[in-house]
Formats: sequence, structure tokens, C-alpha cells
Amino acid sequence: MYLEEKDLAWAQETLERTAHKLEKVAQRSAEKIPYTTVDGVHDDKSGDKEIGWWTNGFWGGIMWQMYTLTGKEIYRNIAEQNEKKLDADLMDYEKLDHDNGFKWLPTAVADYRVTGNRSSKNRGLLAAGNLAGRYNCAGKFIRAWNDWPNSKVDRRGWAIIDCMMNLPLLYWASEETGDPRFSQIAANHADTAMKAFIRGDGSANHIVEFDPASGEMIKSYGGQGYGEGSSWTRGQSWGLYGFMLSYLHTQNNAYLETAERIANYFIANIPDSGLIPVDFRQPEDVKLEDSTAAAIASCGLIELARQKDGRQQKIYLNAALKMLQALTKNSFNWNEEEDNLLTKCTAAYHDEKHEFSIIYGDYFFLEALMKLTDKELFIW
Ligand code: GLY
Repeated sequence: MYLEEKDLAWAQETLERTAHKLEKVAQRSAEKIPYTTVDGVHDDKSGDKEIGWWTNGFWGGIMWQMYTLTGKEIYRNIAEQNEKKLDADLMDYEKLDHDNGFKWLPTAVADYRVTGNRSSKNRGLLAAGNLAGRYNCAGKFIRAWNDWPNSKVDRRGWAIIDCMMNLPLLYWASEETGDPRFSQIAANHADTAMKAFIRGDGSANHIVEFDPASGEMIKSYGGQGYGEGSSWTRGQSWGLYGFMLSYLHTQNNAYLETAERIANYFIANIPDSGLIPVDFRQPEDVKLEDSTAAAIASCGLIELARQKDGRQQKIYLNAALKMLQALTKNSFNWNEEEDNLLTKCTAAYHDEKHEFSIIYGDYFFLEALMKLTDKELFIW
């Protein structure tokens, strides 16, 4: 991949500044598993009630990237603590859902990749086995969420675009064990997602409901976006990066083409500012942003650029650079006494609270810089 000198210099300098800040943040938040910040201070989701929260692998992921970058033991120690704390979740069947990939790829599997640690491999394989068990054979999809505890909605047939990012846990399990069943399930889900989630224009549905008995597709939902038929930007990003990852693990060109279609749609909708709204189809007078969508899409676009050359490579790289540079100018907290990197992250369009800090925004921002400078630990 060819990065112009000025862009490489920008990425190197931004990574250095980010790493400088993260060293202080890591010291302050060593005992926590953060999700967001309150008045600039990380919260902590490692308690009994919240240990199953789907984002609880990203802090460990930041620490493994920082360990890869610097070799400093503090990062490895914090990452190991994060991984061990997640055992309470791994042993609680009802709290596990399809997000096993988000939780155990950046923690246990990353640890195993770096250290070869047997207990980390064990955790990764247990998480993969549980994820494989969520596969619906009739509909060929992985069920997203549970109905526990007391959901009013029957979600046995629900799948979501986000799951494309959980599939690499299954590809890894097959690569590790030599047993193709895990990757067969992942590829079947990806094939279903290509048909049921990705629309003709390259945009993606967030939620699709199937009949859990017959496997027939019933309908789609707007989910965390504006509404049915809308275009929740983080969902587009999960689809773009997720199909890219399925391609990297399988070499199936259909996944690469799908990632490219989503990427072309995404790029056509990036505003001049480079700042990404919560939904590409939100009303024009709504100015809500989601920095996480920009960071995740950038990672997908950089991976896509690595598969291309010439003009196409430049288009994908420039789009990623435009978003990352817009984030650092407008939506980044450079104050080293505060714990977050990105600002203006949004979990869901219809939530009461918008535009705050979210840990996976910080994770993917760091991953994007590590990719641009060729220093990344491959997590997915
Ligand atoms: N995977 C849930 C989200 O992106 O908010």
C-alpha cells in the first residue's frame, strides 16, 4: 500500500501524540474496563452486573495495540487483567450473545497471538464454540441477542449487521483447530447477510428478522439508526469492515465485492466536513454525529486499499484519511488529563444521549493509525 510522504508523516505524528496520551490514560484506568467517560474520567464496566457488556473487550484491545507499539509491560498487564475479568462473563451462559467476537478477539485471542498462552487459546475456543451454537440451521444466520431477561420482543430470529465483526472469532477457531465447522458457519452467515442485509445501492439494513423455525426472512428494522430503510452509519461501517475481514479469512471474492459496494456507497455519502452523521438518511436539520462510524469505516477502507492499486487504492485511502483527519481536528480530546480520545460518538439515533465518548471509537481510531503506519497487531 502506498501512502504519500505527507500522509505517512501525519499518521506517524498523530500516532505518537495518541500513544503519549494513552500512556497516561492507561496508568489512571489500569484497574478498569471503561466504556465511556464522565467529566473526562473513565467509567468502569468490570463489576458483576456489567461484566457482560458487549464493549468489554476494547480496552484490552487498546492495551494489546499499545503493547505491540511500545513493548511496555504495563499494557500487557492491563490487557491480561481485562481478559481474566471477562471469565465471569464466559461462565454465564445467559449473558452471552453473538458479541463473543467483540469481547474475546481483542483480549484472549490477541493474547494468544502475541504470547501463545494456552489459557487464552482455551478462552477463545470456548467463546467460539458458544458463538457457533447460536447458528440457526434453517435460516443460515447467527442469532444476535437473547430474550433474557424478560424481553417483551421475541428475538429468536433476529440477526444484525454488526455480527459481521464477530465472524472472525469463528474463522480463527477453524484456523487454530483445523476443524472447518466454525468457518462454515461464519461463511454461511456472511452469505445470508450479503442477500438479506445489503441493498442494491450498497447500503445496509441494521436488523433483519427471520422466522426462526423456517428460516424465511420476515422484515428489516431500522435498529440503532433513524428508521426502517434508513442507513445507520455504524452499521454501514460494521458491514464494510466485516465483509473485508470475511474476505481476508476466506479469499472469497464475493465478500471483497460486497465490501467494495458498501465502501463506494459510504464514500459517496461522506459530507464535505469529513464528519460522519449517525444515519446517512437522518433528517437534514439533524446534525448529530457518530465518530465511531468514521473510525471503523476507516479501518475497513484501509484494508480495502491494501487489496487494490493505483487510482482505486488512492480513493479508499483518501476517504479514510479525510475522516481520520477530520476527527483529529474536530472530534478529538487532546487534553492528556482526560481519559477519552474521540468525542461525538453516538450509540443509537433514538437514545436520549448523543455525542459522547465511547471506547470502541478510541479502539478503532488507534487501529486505523496502526494500520497506516504498518504497526498494527492483527486482532480480527
Ligand atoms: N454492536 C452494537 C453497536 O454497534 O452499537
